[in-house]
Amino acid sequence: MTLSLPVATSSCQPWRGLIETYRPYLPVTENTPVVTLMEGNTPLIPVPAIAQRIGRGVRVFVKYDGLNPTGSFKDRGMTMAISKAKEAGAEAVICASTGNTSAAAAAYARRGGMRAFVLIPDGYVALGKLAQALLYGAEVLAIKGNFDRALEIVREMAESYPVTLVNSVNPYRLEGQKTGAFEVVDVLGNAPDWLCIPVGNAGNISAYWMGFCQYQQIGKCDRLPRMMGFQAAGAAPLVNGQPVHHPETIATAIRIGNPASWDKAMGVKTASGGNFHAVTDAEILDAYRLLASEEGIFCEPASAASVAGMLKVKEEIPTEATVVCVLTGNGLKDPDTAIKHSNSQFKQGIEADIQAVAGAMGF
Ligand code: F0G
Repeated sequence: MTLSLPVATSSCQPWRGLIETYRPYLPVTENTPVVTLMEGNTPLIPVPAIAQRIGRGVRVFVKYDGLNPTGSFKDRGMTMAISKAKEAGAEAVICASTGNTSAAAAAYARRGGMRAFVLIPDGYVALGKLAQALLYGAEVLAIKGNFDRALEIVREMAESYPVTLVNSVNPYRLEGQKTGAFEVVDVLGNAPDWLCIPVGNAGNISAYWMGFCQYQQIGKCDRLPRMMGFQAAGAAPLVNGQPVHHPETIATAIRIGNPASWDKAMGVKTASGGNFHAVTDAEILDAYRLLASEEGIFCEPASAASVAGMLKVKEEIPTEATVVCVLTGNGLKDPDTAIKHSNSQFKQGIEADIQAVAGAMGF
C-alpha cells in the first residue's frame, strides 16, 4: 500500500520576501544581489476590543510589523539598503540607532557578508535589541550621548570612511519601508481612512505615504489616508515645532529630539490632511497593556504610541471609518518594561504542593 500525502488543491506560492514580491515598484535591477530574510507579509489584525472604545462602527486594524525577522519594521528598509550597499561593493555599513535599526542592520549586513558598525545611546537601548545586535555580530559602540548626536556622528563617518550609512536618510530604506503601505492596501482592497503611526526620526511615516501615493498612481487604491503621527510627549519636536535637546520617554525607540526626515514628515502632514500629536508615557503604557491584555498582541512601548494616539483623538475619527495603527516592533524587544509595568499579579515563592498552588489561585 502506498501512502499519498495530501496535495494542495490551489497553487499556493511561498512568500519570497519584499524585494521579489514588489520588484516592479522598487529601485532594483537583475544586478542587485538580493539580501533577504523573507521579511514583510506581516498580518493586519482586527482589534475589536479597541474599536469598541471608539464605537460608531469604526473598524480598527493593527499592522503587526513586530513579526518581521528581527522583530521590527526596520527589516523592510534594511533588505533594500543592504542589497543596494552590496550591489555598490560596500564592505561595511554603519548606523545610529535607538535599537531596532541596529538589530536589522546587523542581521542583514552579516547575511550579506558585510561588517556592521552601530552607534547607540549608552544605557537607552532595550535589552532584546542590544542582545540581537551583539549576537548577529555587529560591532556595537555605545556613546555618551543621545540618538540625535549618534546620527550626527555616523553621517560624518560615512563621508570620511569606507562605510555605507544605512539610517533612513539612505533613500533605499524608505523605498523598502513603503511596502508596509502596499501590504495594507493589498489586504483591505483600498487605503484606510486613517493611518496612525509612531514617529521618531520620521522615516517611516514618510515611507508609508510614499507607498500609498505610488499605489494610488498605479490604480491599486483610489484614495489616500489621513496620516496621523504620534510622538512621545517628552520627545515631540514635530508637535512643538522645534527640536527637543534632551528628549525623554519610556518608549526609548522614539527618544529622538531632532528627526532627520523633519521636512518630509511636515510635507506628509500637509498633503494628507493629517496631524502630529503627543502622547504621554502613561497613555503609551495604557495602550501597551490594553493591546496585550485585551487583544493578545505584544508590541513594544513605542509601537503602542499609535494606538494611544488614536484613542486620544478618537472623537475626530469619522463614523464607520477604517483605521490602521502600525505596530512597529515586537514586545519581546523590551522585557524590562513589560515586567515593570504589567498589572498582572506575579506570585512568587509558592510551596511546590497542590494545596499551596490552589490556595494561591484563590480556590
Ligand atoms: N517604532 C519603533 C519600534 C522604532 O524602533 C522606531 C524607530 C519608530 C517607531 C519610529 O520610526 O524613526 O521612522 O519615525 N527606531 C529607530 C531605530 C530610530 O534606531 O531603531 P521613525
